[in-house]
Amino acid sequence: MQFEKPATTNPIDQLKVVGKPVQRIDGELKTTGRARYAYEWHDPNLPYAYGYPVGSAIAKGQITSIDSAAAKKAPGVLGIVTALDVGNLQKGKLNTANLFGGSVIQHYHQVVAVVVAETFEQARAAAALLKVDYVPEKGAFDLRAEMANAKTPDPSTEPESSVGDFEAAFSTAAVTLDAEYTTPDQSHAMMEPHASIAAWDGDEVTVWTSSQMIDWWRSDFAITLGMDKEKVHLMSPFIGGGFGGKLFLRVDAVLAAFAANAVGRPVKVALPRPMISNNTTHRPATIQRIRIGAERDGKITAIGHESWSGDLPGGGPETAVMQTRLLYAGENRMTAMKLATLDLPEGNAMRAPGEAPGLMALEIAIDEMSEKLGMDPIEFRIKNDTLVDPENPERPFSHRDLIGCLKLGAEKFGWDQRKNPATRREGNWMIGMGVAAAFRNNLVMPSGARVKLDKDGIVTVETDMTDIGTGSYTIIAQTAAEMMGVGVDRVAVQLGDSRFPVSAGSGGQFGANSATSGVYAACVKLREAIASKLGFNSADVLFEDGEVKSGNRVVRLAEAAGVDGLVGEDTIEWGELTKTHQQSTFGGHFVEVGVDVATGETRIRRMLAVCAAGRILNPITARSQVIGAMTMGAGGALSEELAVDTRHGFFVNHDLAGYEVPVHADIPHQEVIFMDETDPYSSPMKAKGVGELGLCGVSAAIANAIYNATGIRVRHYPITLDKLIDELPNVA
Ligand code: MOS
Repeated sequence: MQFEKPATTNPIDQLKVVGKPVQRIDGELKTTGRARYAYEWHDPNLPYAYGYPVGSAIAKGQITSIDSAAAKKAPGVLGIVTALDVGNLQKGKLNTANLFGGSVIQHYHQVVAVVVAETFEQARAAAALLKVDYVPEKGAFDLRAEMANAKTPDPSTEPESSVGDFEAAFSTAAVTLDAEYTTPDQSHAMMEPHASIAAWDGDEVTVWTSSQMIDWWRSDFAITLGMDKEKVHLMSPFIGGGFGGKLFLRVDAVLAAFAANAVGRPVKVALPRPMISNNTTHRPATIQRIRIGAERDGKITAIGHESWSGDLPGGGPETAVMQTRLLYAGENRMTAMKLATLDLPEGNAMRAPGEAPGLMALEIAIDEMSEKLGMDPIEFRIKNDTLVDPENPERPFSHRDLIGCLKLGAEKFGWDQRKNPATRREGNWMIGMGVAAAFRNNLVMPSGARVKLDKDGIVTVETDMTDIGTGSYTIIAQTAAEMMGVGVDRVAVQLGDSRFPVSAGSGGQFGANSATSGVYAACVKLREAIASKLGFNSADVLFEDGEVKSGNRVVRLAEAAGVDGLVGEDTIEWGELTKTHQQSTFGGHFVEVGVDVATGETRIRRMLAVCAAGRILNPITARSQVIGAMTMGAGGALSEELAVDTRHGFFVNHDLAGYEVPVHADIPHQEVIFMDETDPYSSPMKAKGVGELGLCGVSAAIANAIYNATGIRVRHYPITLDKLIDELPNVA
């Protein structure tokens, strides 16, 4: 199905099932431990062996030799596969760094070998006996030091934009801000580590893994292994979080495949937690300069945003300036990205790549600017709202309700109770409120599905879509139920298997809208097949209560299916609407914090997100996405930072003891409100994504609340105690 024109009324609009708070259909499997994650697949008849990876001890250079004699003699060892044994492998299309193979070391903890043994413990013990010699080379590890060497990245990344005359407008503006902000390297820190099991059958391989994007993964696996994609069967039905860290093929699968081939048995490989941050990818650190000029009445006349980030050779920038092209009006504008070469682990997508760190900076700048203007920060944002793309005024937003989100949020949060900076005290706590706009583009991806109707009237959906904890199973079941006129209990959903039609996958908050639209398209085909088999005129046919109705004829679905059943299969594809209209999602984040007047400890007291993201397919799963994202934003504001060893080139705090994500005790009352809206430009579902929107702006709202509490402006994340303590009032 080609989606070319804005959606008109369709069966989804009945909203008998879609839009309802349906509990997760996979919830029971998960809460009872019966949902099997990658490492947990276990067939008692298969002789599994266990692989343990060994990571490079240098960040850049060459392996000169690997002595595995002692490891080979260790108890239980079945085999060892080293990077030198396999030699240079063809790199997949989506990874920047080589995952495995050859003597060249590009980053710390790049895998140099996998040791395979009868048990996990034996493999781990033997791995410690491997002796690897290297010739290290000098690398570049410090973004600040490399700023001057940073270059404009590849034109495909759209690194620059300019409208009007920014410099002239900025230099003559009545009120100006020119400030630098920094965001650190961050780790996805998902619960389930990267893990794979590979089992060969002749020249075909089945891999159970944990992947957000089945087809991307499968294509790159085939390239890396030098085999035919059709001979790779991938299974990833349950995923314990990804946040972008599982978009691409990772080394665990490559190691499992080589190891299984070497020992002639199925092999399980998980990345040990302390290897994940340096072996895989992370959100790259940024240095951002923001300049804003405005008239005294608050109208922005000049807005400029530059961002520096680093990556390995061949990598790309963190696109932190992108939202600044679209969020606020202003006649004179410029954005620019600069990319430094760094020999740190590969930087890549992490939840809301670009906007998440970009808004961490921009939304503090907006707060600072409103203070300079003596305006309320909500009023300042409203004054500079735009209903068209400010760089291309002939392109309207398909739907934009930033103002509605900010106004409703202000009312619900009690924004009128906000005081001047550093004036509200409760005992030892300095109390403050902060706000930030949320913004994230609404991407769409082609997405296919197959829908079967069987003789018992059961509807089964098959698609290679994934559920990374987001609720894909449930919203897909709701979509099929609505389309076929049955209850969710009559729908079975099968996901995460490469034998199913290629879907959007889970990423870029495009999964929910794109994948359900693919299911919609397949259901349209199935409805047509049913109508045609019954000789019904498909124009007036109704699917409801488990029956098909046309004129005065009524047939039960089970009967219509017959013994052989019926199938509909299709892929949703997208036309020009994403070009003619700017499709984005909007929100307002509100936060109240207390900062301890003596220690500078920040405690979040209340959080509210108001989101405008098209039709909400399921308020339970959507809310869960947003509160998870708000929690991630709290980590980004207050604690999360991969500390870079700029001498030796690695992330020092590479485990969950040293990389501090929020725990339950850090997160107070959270509230989420969805604006009641639909966006017919987005898809037949009229929905958009919320999973990344929920994160965008949160950390800045917290930073702004800390400023309101203390009068201390911190522009460098995370906002830890040491950045506040020197400026706190003297309470001795
Ligand atoms: Mo997302 S960073 O595209 O999983």
